[in-house]
Amino acid sequence: MPLSRDEAWKALALHPDPTLAELFDADENRVDKLSTRLELGETGVRFDWSKTHLTDGLLKDFEALAEASGFAEMRAKMFAGAVVNPTEGRAAEHTALRGVGKESSVEEAEALRHRMKLLVEAIHQGVLGEVKHLIHVGIGGSALGPALAVDALARDLPMVDVHVVSNIDGVALEEAFEACDPATTMIAVASKTFTTTETMTNAQSALKWLADNGVDDPTGRVVALTAAPEKAVEWGVDETRILPFAESVGGRYSLWSSIGFPVAMAVGWDEFEDMLAGAAAVDAHFRDTDGRANLPLRAAFADLFYSRLKGAQTRAVFAYDERLRLLPDYLQQLEMESNGKSVTVDGEPAGPTAPITWGGVGTDAQHAVFQLLHQGTHLVPIDFIASVEAGDTLDAAHHHILLMNCFAQGAALMAGKASDDPHRSYAGNRPSATILCDDIDAATFGALVAFHEHRTFAAAVMMDINPFDQFGVELGKEIAKKIEKGGEKFDASTEALLKAAGVG
Ligand code: F6P
Repeated sequence: MPLSRDEAWKALALHPDPTLAELFDADENRVDKLSTRLELGETGVRFDWSKTHLTDGLLKDFEALAEASGFAEMRAKMFAGAVVNPTEGRAAEHTALRGVGKESSVEEAEALRHRMKLLVEAIHQGVLGEVKHLIHVGIGGSALGPALAVDALARDLPMVDVHVVSNIDGVALEEAFEACDPATTMIAVASKTFTTTETMTNAQSALKWLADNGVDDPTGRVVALTAAPEKAVEWGVDETRILPFAESVGGRYSLWSSIGFPVAMAVGWDEFEDMLAGAAAVDAHFRDTDGRANLPLRAAFADLFYSRLKGAQTRAVFAYDERLRLLPDYLQQLEMESNGKSVTVDGEPAGPTAPITWGGVGTDAQHAVFQLLHQGTHLVPIDFIASVEAGDTLDAAHHHILLMNCFAQGAALMAGKASDDPHRSYAGNRPSATILCDDIDAATFGALVAFHEHRTFAAAVMMDINPFDQFGVELGKEIAKKIEKGGEKFDASTEALLKAAGVG
């Protein structure tokens, strides 16, 4: 008889608590068992989960939990394009954008991608006049992925200079204006719904800036990236410059769609395709691999172990690579907007769900927040992400010191150090995982992001929550609209703030 989900969780809670040092002492094959290299054609990524507290026994019981949670069925449903977002009656077809999924969705995505390729290449060839700059306005999933990808991949001589602007605070847009020449600037308006206040307001201001600076036909400089092409037409964008994507692609999973337009503009079409190919390699691995050998699933096992069984309320990600400095921001939306839920798919209390994702870059973070990680009272599982190849061309000492520090942190957190002086004592036994890439090229980057998408999905399935809706963001938007409209009373504190600022 297979276990129920409750029974599986109960079995998981009964495991003893060996220290990391004890686990390494007890099993000389621990590194081999928990470190796996994923090959990506000419490059690869090593996923080392050996410095977590996962044991053979825990892995076995987590595999039972995955089975009790219907993980294989849910995964099959996702790849088949079936409804996996029941509260909105939608599929989640981001993998189809990478060529892995329901045949008709893959074909549709290919056709749309071809359209995007033609436009990108036409712009690169100068068909729309000289284009040196692109201001990409979008927010949340319509901004974080492009910003991360452009920052990671387009460092050396980008084909077009891209500025991603999300915030409604005009300071952000003005900063982009400062850096761009209106005569050679295009505007990408990125919004799945084409209704988001921040994006539409920023888009209008960008058009005004073009007009104020002598551009005759500002809307003629706009490309719309959206799942609501009819709204973009209404807004005035010519159909030839509207790049649609499917409604079944969630905002925070949309980097691979036309939302990735600025990435292709900056790095060129071939690299954009390489990014998709790297993600597709992880899709195939995730779809075809069972149990602990499945890397996103294994990572989700560790995530749930710490957040559900050990009470960790946060998880930290430190990129020891400047090219990935925006990764923590990106992962915050992916993980917290997906799995920051209170109820199960059936609307019952869910128990602890997603921990708070936070992080930064090494080595900066070592001189700021690592004190708490080494000696503080919170349990914080950490991911370190690094690249064997350097992103810089300076003296090799830079990258050498960077990598040595990354590995030293993981080792120190695990080993700790006893001292007679309690102030100088480190408890150790603090978990970390290390993702070591050969390099941060487009394929590896795509693989890294897809790994995190699937890890998030796997955790959601085992927590019995829907990772694909985000109703929690609506209430604040509603109240902002009411304040703007006026005529309604709010709580005394809010009223006083409105009065003090002279708004509302
Ligand atoms: O408010 C949250 C959200 O809906 C995100 O999920 C989404 O990525 C973002 O807003 C932007 O939405 P849109 O792409 O429709 O402008």
